[in-house]
Amino acid sequence: MANSSEGEAGPVRAAVFASGSGSNFQALLDRQDDLGAYGIVLLLSDRQDAGALERARKAGVPGRVVPVKGRPPEETAAEMLAVLEEYAVEVIFLAGYLRLVPPQVVRAFPRRILNIHPALLPAFGGKGMWGHHVHQAVLATGAAVTGPTVHFVEEEYDTGPILAQWPVPVRAGDTPDTLAARVLRVEHLLYPLAASHLCRALREGRPPEPLRPPGECFAVLEAHDESSLVRQIARALGLASLCPFPRFP
Ligand code: GRF
Repeated sequence: MANSSEGEAGPVRAAVFASGSGSNFQALLDRQDDLGAYGIVLLLSDRQDAGALERARKAGVPGRVVPVKGRPPEETAAEMLAVLEEYAVEVIFLAGYLRLVPPQVVRAFPRRILNIHPALLPAFGGKGMWGHHVHQAVLATGAAVTGPTVHFVEEEYDTGPILAQWPVPVRAGDTPDTLAARVLRVEHLLYPLAASHLCRALREGRPPEPLRPPGECFAVLEAHDESSLVRQIARALGLASLCPFPRFP
């Protein structure tokens, strides 16, 4: 299953795992046609009431719930693997998925599972570091810079190799909510680009280069519209060819 994309053409078949509102899922959906490297074929959640399921329904993407709580991990893993196989999934993007991905699934998708975390790993990661806890911790240490990290998923929380990061300034008077909003906006720009970068590499049968932003470049300038910000980030990361004119005007 995990090696099925080599030699095939067309967008890489992606599943998104989400436990919450799924705004990153939405960002991945909104950019997939322009970027063309991945196509989301499944939304998987551990929660029946996840907002992401409603987004999937509206977008015509199949949504499935695989419960985790109170079940033996092997049972969850077996059900997940069966669903992933049913949809011929080649890569998985975690988008606010608050459960540990079972080791059997991690092993079935080596270097094919990405997560987005709202801080610059390895700082502010690990168990318990999610949502407002992350931003509270950033503010408590007085850090001047934070920002999202896209990384490969391993068998523990937030430990896999980093694929992409983007710095976001912490501003005087920030609360966990204002900081979360500034970081989330950049997550929505960065994740589809990093996901596409991985999928393009998969189709070409090579490992993706880690994406490093040059120096101190804060892309969150309120004056820019989303499309020009995406292009600015893509260009800085060496991904300009992912955003060809005129699809990103
Ligand atoms: C994001 O902050 C992401 O970094 C983290 O969980 C949050 C998910 O938000 N992994 P959403 O459900 O995508 O809106």
